[in-house]
Amino acid sequence: MELFIDTGAVSEVEEIASWGVLSGATTNPSLLAKEDGEPGDIIRKIADLVNGPTSAEVVSADAEGMIAEGQALRKLHDHVTVKVPFGPEGLKATRALTDDGAMVNMTLVFSPNQALLAASSGATFVSCFMGRLDDISVDSSKVLEEIVDVLRARDLESKVLAASIRHPEHMVTAASLGCDIATVPAKVFHQMLNHPLTTEGAAKFESDWKSRPEFGEWLSGLVAADKG
Ligand code: G3P
Repeated sequence: MELFIDTGAVSEVEEIASWGVLSGATTNPSLLAKEDGEPGDIIRKIADLVNGPTSAEVVSADAEGMIAEGQALRKLHDHVTVKVPFGPEGLKATRALTDDGAMVNMTLVFSPNQALLAASSGATFVSCFMGRLDDISVDSSKVLEEIVDVLRARDLESKVLAASIRHPEHMVTAASLGCDIATVPAKVFHQMLNHPLTTEGAAKFESDWKSRPEFGEWLSGLVAADKG
């Protein structure tokens, strides 16, 4: 499963991209609205940082407007993926944009049938929301499993992108179900990173090493010799 970052904050992308784990990014109007600066500048910076598909979302309600916005957004950067909300107008726009060579991320997908339609319209990525399903007491893992099964059965090329990720367990579920991508908020990346036994183990290694001062001298000498 590839990891995208789900944010409009360039600073968050800079931090997580430095870990060497990112393959792309997703933004949406709500995430961008939280940030200062022009959306185009933010999207270009994020696309440069992740060096992979970077979703920028259209906001028109009709296909004609979505297509026009999508054509303009994709010119911001080679990595820009046009993000299109699910619906009849979104399906029309997705078919037109993908036929014209654009990458499209169809978003706000909450069921296998919606995912089947999104994939059938040619969407490159199908963003299947987990957290918002859990918020209304619907088992997101069951829905995601059905979506993966349906799209794999149809042998459709669209990639299943797990979105609305709220905690590390969503990541384990998405990966174990065979999702192609998960788009992850910076907060969840940090939750994935931390484990008390890792912290405890690193502290023990450091204290045991320091208990033999000659070892530190040996290693410093080794580094100096290597640098020549
Ligand atoms: O990109 C979709 C994602 O940002 C939605 O997440 O937490 O607002 O449901 P959330």
